[in-house]
Amino acid sequence: MNVLDCIYKRRSIRKYSQKPVDDETLITLVKAATAAPTACNTQPWEFIIVTDDEVRKELKSKLYFGNYDAPAAIVVCGNMKLAMSGPVKDFWIQDCSAAIENILLAATSMGLGTLWIGLHPVESNYRPLYKIFDLPKEVIPLAVIFVGYPEEEKEPRTQFNEKRIYWNKYEPRKHRARKKNTKKL
Ligand SMILES: Cc1cc2nc3c(=O)[nH]c(=O)nc-3n(C[C@H](O)[C@H](O)[C@H](O)COP(=O)(O)O)c2cc1C
Repeated sequence: MNVLDCIYKRRSIRKYSQKPVDDETLITLVKAATAAPTACNTQPWEFIIVTDDEVRKELKSKLYFGNYDAPAAIVVCGNMKLAMSGPVKDFWIQDCSAAIENILLAATSMGLGTLWIGLHPVESNYRPLYKIFDLPKEVIPLAVIFVGYPEEEKEPRTQFNEKRIYWNKYEPRKHRARKKNTKKL
């Protein structure tokens, strides 16, 4: 599969077969993740691979928007002891997000489905993971990525929208803005 086809084919999969994903495949996904670019090549990431049924069930039960039955999950975390400090500190979020997208694309190319469940910056989303995984406070779970063989089909697509593109200069445009957001500006 070429890269563009893979990018369009990647969709959020919420129905999975219970066929397990083998350890080697999961390691391949983490290898793909860690090929991503990071600011100053800091690689502030850590990955918790979940295949144990008890742990997996506990994890999904704590995810308000992520109670899905995938046979495996990869929790992508930023370790603040590895991240940069000062004004560039928050680059860890971009670094780990690039790693996540690599996981999603690599999985798609291997016939696997994935779902990105966002945790940080919503504290109530990621707090339960400290207990489940016995995490130290410097480790921040950014997302849970469910992985498994898909049991639903979704159309490949882009969401290209010319109205979101500007050439060389920004210009005011009428968007269907969210009411709450315009109040703040
Ligand atoms: C930062 C982030 C957080 C997300 N969190 C959730 C989530 O909690 N639950 C969920 O079902 N999907 C979640 N998604 C998946 C989005 O709902 C999905 O990507 C979006 O609807 C577009 O559909 P597609 O992935 O099939 O292109 C998240 C995606 C991102 C990038």
